[in-house]
Amino acid sequence: MQITAAVTHSVKGRFCVEEIEIDSPRGDEVLVRMSAVGLCHSDVLAAEGVLPVTLPVVLGHEGAGIVESVGPDVKNLKKGDSVVMTFNFCGECATCKKGEPCYCLNFLQLNYSPVRADGSHTLCGCRGGAGISGSFFGQSSFASYAIGNARNVVKVASDVDLTLLGPLGCGIQTGAGSVMRSLKAEAGSSIVVFGGGSVGLSAVMGAVIQGCSTIILVEPMEARRKLGLELGATHVIDPKADDVVTKVKEIAVQGVQYAVDTSGAIPALQAALLCLCMRGTLALVGVPSNMEAAISVNVIAALSSGLTIKSVIEGDSEPGVYIPELVELYKAGRFPIDKLTTKYPFAAINEAVEDQKQGKCVKAVLVF
Ligand SMILES: NC(=O)c1ccc[n+]([C@@H]2O[C@H](COP(=O)([O-])OP(=O)(O)OC[C@H]3O[C@@H](n4cnc5c(N)ncnc54)[C@H](O)[C@@H]3O)[C@@H](O)[C@H]2O)c1
Ligand SMILES: [Zn+2]
Ligand SMILES: [Zn+2]
Repeated sequence: MQITAAVTHSVKGRFCVEEIEIDSPRGDEVLVRMSAVGLCHSDVLAAEGVLPVTLPVVLGHEGAGIVESVGPDVKNLKKGDSVVMTFNFCGECATCKKGEPCYCLNFLQLNYSPVRADGSHTLCGCRGGAGISGSFFGQSSFASYAIGNARNVVKVASDVDLTLLGPLGCGIQTGAGSVMRSLKAEAGSSIVVFGGGSVGLSAVMGAVIQGCSTIILVEPMEARRKLGLELGATHVIDPKADDVVTKVKEIAVQGVQYAVDTSGAIPALQAALLCLCMRGTLALVGVPSNMEAAISVNVIAALSSGLTIKSVIEGDSEPGVYIPELVELYKAGRFPIDKLTTKYPFAAINEAVEDQKQGKCVKAVLVF
């Protein structure tokens, strides 16, 4: 079938909107007609060659839409269902069986492989053209139709604006889940979030839902600090204007119990460690812009304060459970994702990337 897709041909980060072809869904696959797809920072990293992809590729991994058709082995979804597409996982390895699909032992292969497990392409150029990498995060949803599977396509309520829901599949579940599921921050606890993009602001919303009483957002962009306050941050800090550790210790004298880094910036990570109180935990979420990025930890200081550093993929989500839960929180007015979202027509994808990079929008959503 012919579809419209944004194809990345080179690692210069440009997207070319063109006609290509998509295969029919096989086995446990699901063909989704896209309503909208969110733009995640990781798509940009992949388009710039920081994350490993095989060119040409269709990126995109925050798709939301309507099921068009399903393969013969799909029992849990049917044509017409409203769905959100999320990261891919096998469902069968030891960590998947423990209910931790974000750490699927086959995660890399399933989310970065250009082809299906049997080597066939889901996408190709028109009229029998060459294969195009089409299984990015088990979806490649920068396209009018995308192929996912029975596990990474999650049914959601049909009475919600679907064009808002795609980012629940990655950035938003990552930020909220880091606080709600991974840290499980207790009511009354204190937290500092570094970076106020869609992931960090979702962490702030997650902290509000958890009932944290001190929620500090560290973010250099003024508009994002302002939005953080609107979403429930109790304090904001501009790391360009102030010494972050000093400011945090003015707010929480002993330090905070939790720090979440969504900036991937080394100075932020080093500061985050120093903001923690006794038995504090730092969650690593942001992806640094180079593969060699590293932080240093003073071992004696860490030992004497009983620190924990944990890394968090996709908010430790179990997508089939957590994404519908977040949709319900949105419907109840407790998780205002609409405040993060700016809609663009799909054809304006390059403009959306530029705007998001420059902070003119927090979460661009490309609407079909
Ligand atoms: N771990 C995961 O599973 C996962 C999933 C999705 C996204 N990510 C990553 O999370 C990160 C955040 O994603 P996003 O979409 O919110 O990106 P974003 O670029 O919109 O947000 C990052 C924010 O960090 C701010 N920042 C930069 N330097 C800072 C500093 N020194 N201190 C505090 N803030 C600083 C920027 O101004 C920006 O607002 C990205 O690196 C993305 O790749 C990780
Ligand atoms: Zn697995
Ligand atoms: Zn992502």
